[in-house]
Amino acid sequence: MHKSRILITCAKGIPPFLKQELLGLNFPVLSESVAGVETEGVLDDAPALNLFLRTAHRVLFQLKEFRVKNADELYRVLSEMPWEDLIPEDGYLCVTSSVDNPTIRDTRFASLRCKDAIVDRIKAKRGKRPDSGPDRDRSVVHLYWKDERAVVYLDASGESLSRRGYRKIPLGAPMQETLAAAVVQATGWQGEGTFINPMCGSGTLAVEAALIALGRAPGLLRNNFGFMHLKGFHEGLWNEVREQAKKNARKSFSGRIIATDIDSEAVEAAKKNAATAGVEHLIEFRVCEYADTPLPAGGGVIVMNPPYGERMGELAKLEGLYKGIGDFFKQQCKGFTGYVFTGNPSLAKKVSLKPKRGIPFFNSGIECRLLEYELYEGTRKVKKERLPAAD
Ligand SMILES: C[S@@+](CC[C@H](N)C(=O)[O-])C[C@H]1O[C@@H](n2cnc3c(N)ncnc32)[C@H](O)[C@@H]1O
Repeated sequence: MHKSRILITCAKGIPPFLKQELLGLNFPVLSESVAGVETEGVLDDAPALNLFLRTAHRVLFQLKEFRVKNADELYRVLSEMPWEDLIPEDGYLCVTSSVDNPTIRDTRFASLRCKDAIVDRIKAKRGKRPDSGPDRDRSVVHLYWKDERAVVYLDASGESLSRRGYRKIPLGAPMQETLAAAVVQATGWQGEGTFINPMCGSGTLAVEAALIALGRAPGLLRNNFGFMHLKGFHEGLWNEVREQAKKNARKSFSGRIIATDIDSEAVEAAKKNAATAGVEHLIEFRVCEYADTPLPAGGGVIVMNPPYGERMGELAKLEGLYKGIGDFFKQQCKGFTGYVFTGNPSLAKKVSLKPKRGIPFFNSGIECRLLEYELYEGTRKVKKERLPAAD
């Protein structure tokens, strides 16, 4: 089995976290882009990458990189590749693409030519062509084509890894599971002290925090990945990696997770999602105002993702909410590290505390910040550092 380049895609802002995860799994980091990190490995690495990575969206194994001017050339190059060794002839193929080439007006046309080349090749070699269509739950091939540079990949994930499978109850504006995992990683919380999540909504942050504290692989919640639909899928290896991941997960951790929301429906949804993820017993839920969230002694982190709606009229109300969060932090949360995840910088200012740092993220295309506030015991106001006067 030969090594290939592997592109792991993720949301914008996530590569620094994904890089750390890859290094932690002993994979090298070859390059980093705005929404992906490149590593290398063999197809037998697909189970581990899909199972363990918390912040990745797709694991793409590079098959070939080539120069190509138009769709006919693309068809020709692709028909020369040994697809019969990769895609089962009685299987189902989906081709996805990201195309920016002057000869292609509709990216669907590029996907179609790519799909034709693959199924025609398999038919010529094996006498039977696989079915094809838009569903990503079986074999998936991805085409990247920008100007005259094309790269074809085997998509070892299929459906995005952000779809862990535990969020069954749709609600308001939930955070993507992979983003929530990165936010928990950014706080550094790993199971010691308390993880407090007022305004928990559908509970994504609390569930991801529980999975991290247990060291439980997020992929254990899913039983279908793209790599399972490739020829030569090594089922024994998959079962082994999965069993080992189950064995390595802890049953409990020393800290606590508390998740609250003013909306009882949100708390109900969060409980159900946590139950599906198998961590409901590890999260203490309560319906309450954020300021009435229990704050056990001993410190920890408080992570809040308040609404940052854009509709007129909403903003005035939200200003009061953000000011209140600042008062809550200052008056009740000493000894904790506070975090506010928001996509609205002017609302963030209403917290009226100086953030120690602001970590950039993107949520549904909106640039956001995770603002970190050190809430020291005994000090109410953060001293403003004065710069020496210029001569
Ligand atoms: C943006 S959503 C949080 C989404 C969450 N991160 C998720 O993944 O589902 C904001 C939540 O804040 C809650 N909320 C708004 N005002 C609140 C208040 N005063 N006290 C407690 N919760 C509040 C809403 O009910 C909503 O569930």
